[in-house]
Amino acid sequence: MTFITWDTTLDLHIDIMNNEHRILINHMNHLYQESHGRAEKATIRRILQDFAAYAAKHFLDEERYMAAIDFDDLVVHRSIHQRLLKRVQDYIEEYERSASASVDEEFFNFLKIWVTAHIRGIDAKYATVSPSRVSAGVDAVAATGTNRR
Ligand SMILES: [Fe+2]
Ligand SMILES: [Fe+2]
Repeated sequence: MTFITWDTTLDLHIDIMNNEHRILINHMNHLYQESHGRAEKATIRRILQDFAAYAAKHFLDEERYMAAIDFDDLVVHRSIHQRLLKRVQDYIEEYERSASASVDEEFFNFLKIWVTAHIRGIDAKYATVSPSRVSAGVDAVAATGTNRR
């Protein structure tokens, strides 16, 4: 069972960011499948850490993109990213304190809201401004050379 499916309502019309969102959703689905498939704690721990690392990479790329297109709301958007990452880090600490190997349903609810509210509601804002500067944003992300899984 797939937890979250990428669909066109998440399409920002910026390939590099769509690809990163798909990878982010793949990480979430992997976590969901392994947690519900009763994987061992060591496996879930590694998936959580990989997900956190990819989320941090994606946020940095998005912030570079927004800086390159002179997006006005970069500071606000960055603070939202920091709150999302803090929530993930806090959950990882909570997970370490718990004896259970499975991930709380509340954390999956948070991930679902991340995709529906943040990508559709917040990321969509940088995608609709400065269309003439999209290539500058794409170049800024590509220049980092970190665009990988
Ligand atoms: Fe994003
Ligand atoms: Fe974002």
